[in-house]
Amino acid sequence: MIFSSKYHNVIKEAKNLVQPALDLSAKMMRDVAENSPQKLRKHFIQTIERPGKRLRSILLFLLASSNGGIKDLERAAKAAASVEMLHLASLIHDDVIDMSEFRRGQNSLHSSFGNKIAVLVGDYMLAQSLIFVLEEDDRRIPQSLANAASSLVAGEILEIDLSGNIDISYEDYIQIVEGKTASLLISCAKSGAILAGYDEKIVEECGNLGLHFGIAFQIIDDILDYGIDAKNLGKKNFKDLQNGLITLPLLLYFQKNPKDEMANLIKNASDPKTANLIVKKLKKANCFEEAKSVAYSHLLKAAKILEKLPPSHINTLLKDFFEAMAERKN
Ligand code: FPP
Ligand code: MG
Repeated sequence: MIFSSKYHNVIKEAKNLVQPALDLSAKMMRDVAENSPQKLRKHFIQTIERPGKRLRSILLFLLASSNGGIKDLERAAKAAASVEMLHLASLIHDDVIDMSEFRRGQNSLHSSFGNKIAVLVGDYMLAQSLIFVLEEDDRRIPQSLANAASSLVAGEILEIDLSGNIDISYEDYIQIVEGKTASLLISCAKSGAILAGYDEKIVEECGNLGLHFGIAFQIIDDILDYGIDAKNLGKKNFKDLQNGLITLPLLLYFQKNPKDEMANLIKNASDPKTANLIVKKLKKANCFEEAKSVAYSHLLKAAKILEKLPPSHINTLLKDFFEAMAERKN
């Protein structure tokens, strides 16, 4: 309870601090959406208006502010808008791939309007994200975003390749997570550091900070998919299990238990009773707690990197932001 309110307080404080930048980037996305082809416009507008957490933008803005305040609000807002559009595009496509009916508490785009519209809206948002970021003069920013776009696909395809494979290794899992989630957070953190005017060494350190934050973020996401500690998730539980994805809690189970019985249960995970039985077994084997500690260890690594940045209120807030992330419920 205490932790949960800490999470909300920290997010609230962080959002308040960067609100002008968040508002400007929202306006920029809205302008792009308004100018999109007529058939896509309403879907684009609806997508950007769904209340996401915008954690990627917040991380970018906090780092951009961490060296004496945001130097150029317009540049920072543009970089964040590009990140959010790429992220939203990837989620639209991900829902097609995962056959997920819900996103952010509403029907996913493909479940309301079909795959053709969903694929094209996602493609268009990806293209707009790249067009937008090309206006940035420091080439490292578009470069990092384009790298992230490529890694997202690599992570997603590796995940598909390894689905149903109960022999997946921890290294494989981390490779998936780095590709599909951490890559974009690396780009956010580096972009924030570049906009803050840090030297190349610190920019690289911030890339590592994004990497650890991203890994932790996805591990927590994977735990939430089991409904563990989840609240107002806005999407259905057990999608990973139903898609045959062996995420960290299951991987840890397979590392220390006989595999056959669990492998059979996974095959029937679309039955809610079976899914609940899997959760029970994972709980008993302490796999959720262990997965949480792995996430926490990455959050600590991200926080440790902050010691290399100048001490400030923003720096302390970033540290709290990382610590609180372990307690997120949606
Ligand atoms: C959500 O993960 C999915 C991602 C973080 C990345 C998805 C990437 C792609 C579909 C490929 C790249 C697309 C573009 C446009 C470059 P999840 O399924 O674990 O989380 P969820 O429970 O929120 O769906
Ligand atoms: Mg998904």
